[in-house]
Amino acid sequence: MSESKIKEVPVAEEQAEPILTHEKSLSQKIGRGSEARDILDQQMVMLGIQLVTQLNVLIKTSRIYERTNAALDKPVDAMLTLIKTMAQDQPVTLRLQNDFLFLGNSHLKVNAQQMAVATSIIDALNAWKIGGMIFSLTVESKDLREFAALFVSLDPDNKTIEDLQKEITARGIVGIELEEQRQLQIRQGPGTAGNTGPGTAGNTGPDGTGSADLKVQRKMNAMNGYAKVAGSVGTLTQASREGGTASFKQAKRAIQNIIDLMVDDEAAVLGLTTLRCHDQYTHNHSVNVSLLSIALANRVGYPKVELADLGLAALFHDMGKSTIPMEVLNKPGEFTDDDWVAMRNHPTEGVLSLSKMRGITNLPGRMAAASFEHHMNQDFSGYPKLTVPWTISLTGRILTIADCYDAMTSSRVYRREPMAPSKVLNMMLSKSGKSFDAVLLKLFVNCVGIIPIGSLVMLETSELAVVIKPATDKANTERPFVRVITDPQGNEVDHGREVDLTEKGETGDFRDNIIRLIDNTEYKFDTSRYFTLQDAEKVRQHP
Ligand SMILES: [Fe+2]
Ligand SMILES: [Fe+2]
Repeated sequence: MSESKIKEVPVAEEQAEPILTHEKSLSQKIGRGSEARDILDQQMVMLGIQLVTQLNVLIKTSRIYERTNAALDKPVDAMLTLIKTMAQDQPVTLRLQNDFLFLGNSHLKVNAQQMAVATSIIDALNAWKIGGMIFSLTVESKDLREFAALFVSLDPDNKTIEDLQKEITARGIVGIELEEQRQLQIRQGPGTAGNTGPGTAGNTGPDGTGSADLKVQRKMNAMNGYAKVAGSVGTLTQASREGGTASFKQAKRAIQNIIDLMVDDEAAVLGLTTLRCHDQYTHNHSVNVSLLSIALANRVGYPKVELADLGLAALFHDMGKSTIPMEVLNKPGEFTDDDWVAMRNHPTEGVLSLSKMRGITNLPGRMAAASFEHHMNQDFSGYPKLTVPWTISLTGRILTIADCYDAMTSSRVYRREPMAPSKVLNMMLSKSGKSFDAVLLKLFVNCVGIIPIGSLVMLETSELAVVIKPATDKANTERPFVRVITDPQGNEVDHGREVDLTEKGETGDFRDNIIRLIDNTEYKFDTSRYFTLQDAEKVRQHP
């Protein structure tokens, strides 16, 4: 976009010491996919969150003080330290993609306390249509101060990102570059211009990238849809918390879009559920439960019109949690007895909260059922406890499965680390017919796969791969579609091949085999990126 302004200059002595010092190119030496690499990546993500926090302080402070004011010293020094630490091998890139922040290709998962900061930066970047900020080692104190002053003095409503970039160059600011938000282009073959709907798989270009791009576009749409639904859950939960009113229209529209995508490409939508953020646990959890419920109901044979109602009901199944204080919900430690009482009341409180909200003049039974029954369990071993005979509705039974699966596979603020999807499924299968409806659970396993989407596996070739789609061949359900992510030595490979594990070679044997399941949570390995940015990168390389 702009000419490169990166020059190799020695780092000034007086600049702050890095917090995390390591040999200059240590990170390049550590094999991708290795345990050490994961730890390093984790550290980078933590530093990335600190960078976002300090950038936010810098921007906020610059709105009040002059660029030379001592009030700016702290955020500027902290940012310089972070950049020097992280930019050893390559510049630090903070990216915004579909309202999610990334450091390079790593998703920056923020906790509840960091949410406000992340949202503030996301809004600031969106206002300028900035898709990425690149900080390199050449950046100095004066550059950060000047940049922040510029950033807050220009109005994104009547200036563009190009104007901002020109000003950056004009003022001699070095070490900071901006990237535009990327509009993904669908590559189209001759004669198919404008035809981007489903069923246009034939529009493959001469190099065969066309249908892949179409797939990517669908995934990007799905991610957008996901962000929109998560947003509307946030707004509505907040409204309920504050006793305000809310409309379900927006949520319903967003759900409808997701259902359209689901019918076309179930795996792409389910892949989104791996985008589990620590932070917006409740919002993401609600969206995930909704997606999983829709997928399961779709397999059960629900008519399309009813899927939307179920999706909406699922989206608000935990509405009762809006009556629980945030301090309790976000408690890092163990719950007290009182906390548990409040938690156990959330299904009943949910029905009350929903019935109080405007926009539902007539509380649909399905919504009430979703909230009331989702922790009851098939054998009534859960809560609330009832003194009258009860039959759990189909909605309630679907919800119980989707809710448990997502809750166990996600990390949440008040509970332990997440469990690997395959372990969760095994645990759930051990309670088939007790906690869960046996037939529905079977269908659910078909839907996420015996080795669920998002699982990390090792192939016979010693390559690591991520499960991206359950097997289509019913006789070989333990042979899903995977994407290879490392070479046999554990070095990460970009755009690794997609393998259908049911494919056989000339000898009649399967070409590839899974030799073991790897607990991605044990390795703190975030497989979500293989459903998101990798695809975006692919498009970028074939503009
Ligand atoms: Fe719940
Ligand atoms: Fe839940």
